[in-house]
Parts: sequence; C-alpha cells; structure tokens
Amino acid sequence: MLQDFLSVLFPCSGVLGRDFGGALWFYGGFSAYGFNFNGFLPGHDVMNYPWRKGAVSSCPWKTFSKVKIVIPYLDLKSQYQSIKTEIDKAVLSVLEGGQYVLGPEIEAFEKEFAAYCQTSNAVGVSSGTSALHLALLAAGVGPGDEVITVPFTFVATVAAIDYTGAKAVLADVDPETYTMDMKRLASAVTPKTKAIVPVHLYGQTADMDPLLEIAKKHKLAVIEDAAQAHGAEYKGRRAGSMGDMGCFSFYPGKNLGAFGEGGAVTTNNPEFAKKIRTLRDWGAEKKYHHDLKGFNYRLEALQGAILRVKLRHLEQWTEARRKLAGIYDQKLKAVGIKPPVVRSASRHVYHVYAVQVENRDNHWEGLAARGIHTNIHYPIPVHLQKAYSNLGYQTGDFPVSESLAKKVLSLPLYPEMNEDQVGEVVGVLRHRLMAR
Ligand SMILES: Cc1ncc(COP(=O)(O)O)c(C=O)c1O
Repeated sequence: MLQDFLSVLFPCSGVLGRDFGGALWFYGGFSAYGFNFNGFLPGHDVMNYPWRKGAVSSCPWKTFSKVKIVIPYLDLKSQYQSIKTEIDKAVLSVLEGGQYVLGPEIEAFEKEFAAYCQTSNAVGVSSGTSALHLALLAAGVGPGDEVITVPFTFVATVAAIDYTGAKAVLADVDPETYTMDMKRLASAVTPKTKAIVPVHLYGQTADMDPLLEIAKKHKLAVIEDAAQAHGAEYKGRRAGSMGDMGCFSFYPGKNLGAFGEGGAVTTNNPEFAKKIRTLRDWGAEKKYHHDLKGFNYRLEALQGAILRVKLRHLEQWTEARRKLAGIYDQKLKAVGIKPPVVRSASRHVYHVYAVQVENRDNHWEGLAARGIHTNIHYPIPVHLQKAYSNLGYQTGDFPVSESLAKKVLSLPLYPEMNEDQVGEVVGVLRHRLMAR
C-alpha cells in the first residue's frame, strides 16, 4: 500500500549508481518501508537499467516490477553477518582510537596486503581510480604521452589515463579470455607510448609474459589494473606483483571490499611507493611542506581496519567462488553454454562470472522476471562512450569488445551463494534457451 502510494507520489525518483563490478544501474524501487537504496538483496524490487530504458531523467515507473529478487547478484549483508563480531570489534577500536585517516591501521593493512600480493610495498589510497592515477603519475606519465589499455573495461581505467593528460590508446581484447590481445598491443606501440595498463578482467590476469616482453623491448612501464583480481595468479605470480605497479579497488562488492571506497597500489619499487605515499597526501612528505602537487587520496582508518579483517577471510572466500564457478562450468556445459575460458597455469578469482548469450538483453530481463539478478559488464565499450569520443575511435574499431558488449551476461556469484542457487540460475537459463 505504502509502496504504491509512494510510487504514485514520486514516480520518477530513482538512484543512478554503480554495481560492484562497475556496471551502471538505475534503481527506482521503493521498499515497503520507504525509499530503498539497495537493489542487490533478496526481497527488493527488480532494477531498471539505464542503457536499456533511457537515462536517469526518463521515467522508469512503467518497468517497475514487484518481482522479488530470489537470487541477488551478490549479498554483502550476509557477508557482514558472517564476520560481524570481528568487524564490529575492529570498527569500535578505530572509533575509540581517534585516528580516522591513515595511521596505524592503514600501515598494518599495507604490510599485510603487500605480503598477500607478493610485493614489498603496498600503499593504501582512496579508490581504485586514484590508485591508477597515482601509479601513472609515479611512472612519469603526462601530457604528450600515450598509454595503451583495452576498450573492454570499466571506464575508470581510461579515465585515470585521461587525468594525467596522456592519451589512452586502445588495443582490443582476446575473444577467449577477454584480456588484452598481445598482437594488438604490439601494433599499438608508437614512439610516444610510455606505459601499458593491462586489465585483469573479471578476476583473470592478462597474458603477462608476452606483455612484459613487449614492455621491456620498448622500455615501457607496466601498470596492472588489478581492481577485479585480488589473489589472481599467473604462473604462480600474484596479480599486482608482475608489472611495475598494481592497482586495486576495494569498492564494497570487490572480492576484497571495504565498507566504502578504497584502493591500493602494490609495487616492488620503493621509489614508486614513496612517491605515491607523498602524492596521496597533498604531495607533502613533511606536513605543510608541499614538494609535489598532490591530492587528497588518503585511505580512511575505518576502511583499513575493515579490510584487515576481510583480508583474513579472502582466501576462503576466493576458494568458495572458485568452487561455485566450477559447478557453473559443469552445469552450463551440460546445457550447451560455453563457460569462461581460464588460461592454463592461471588462478581465476571470479570477481565476475560472465557467459556469452545471444539475445542477451532478453535473457537479462527474463531472469529478472524470475527474481534472478544478473548484470552486464559492460554494455558499452569505452571507445563508444560519449565522454571518450575525443579518443577518435568509431564503431567497428574493436570488433571483439563490441561483440562482447552485446553478449556478455554476468551471473550471480558470491562466496555465500550455495550450489542449489547455481542450479536454479542455470535451470532458468536452460528453460529460456529451450523455449526459443
Ligand atoms: C577494471 C577496473 N578498474 C578500475 C576500477 C576503479 O575502482 P574504484 O571504483 O575503486 O575507483 C574498477 C572499479 O569498478 C574496475 O572494475
């Protein structure tokens, strides 16, 4: 009743936000108790996606549905409940300690996260985007330079390059692993190229050996975008430890997620670490002595304390993701859907479990109607985003990315999910495919 009343009063109200892999969402539903900002959890109304139905200014009420989400895309509330005692204790200790920005919790987290990533240094920053921005600056990237990355990524990868004044040059992805295609990379190098930013998409690293060879040959910095790849491995080496620097995001739904924003740069080079530490805190090594033009990219102590607790559980959560992914693989193969391809000698950490389906939008909608919340990472490759039209690319320039953008569908996958839920997702998908 109240819900209906509110939606009559405010039919166009909604929230434009970002899901935990970086995809855009528009949530326009009201919960029975008022305006509800969370469209991810069981019992909430189905969301409306802006790329399908127009921008935030368009009125989405027609597409509101009363369908309950039976299987959410991820379930952060359950994760919190499973470690509530530890988290509450850590949070209280920060609140009582009185140091709220940087400080001992961040220092301890940096040491623990560096060890986890097999690097000698980690520097906590305010987000994955600021991690990329500062890593690029530390590598000396600036106006007049070119930096090669991929079009099939979250926009932040290209945005960070843009922040430095350098030009993002894009190289298409490999159709099997969705990571940078090495042939395309080799042909994108010019005398202006200064760095390469491979994206370890969905939790699988790029093909780092050939990439590092190309970088060495042309004396290019390598900055890994590991925002989706905490704990991923390539031939036994951890994401974030192979290039000059690795950039992580701790956005809440990431495999290691804060209760707010956060990020880190990992590196084995103490000079880079030192520069990033200075740049994140207004370019001042000594308070009020600003040797560099810096930023307010500091990580909050609360996030550090929370991340320290969560880091202790990360391996177990990653193994749970990998196990569920294995179950998806088997069940999907049985119904004729190709599971994600994992490069040999790699450890995929399944931040996103994406499959390719024809008529993807139709399946997305059909699954939503059955209460199964899926996602799309990403519906528009960066080179076709309006904001980046200045890069000078057009439709047809990156056929693999463009085709993936039309077909990928990310299925629910989170450590707290169970086998029956995986079976239900595949069952509904199978039913839909058979009905065609
Ligand atoms: C591949 C990739 N790079 C960079 C980022 C940016 O991270 P953040 O949202 O923490 O700024 C994200 C976040 O979604 C990402 O998925």
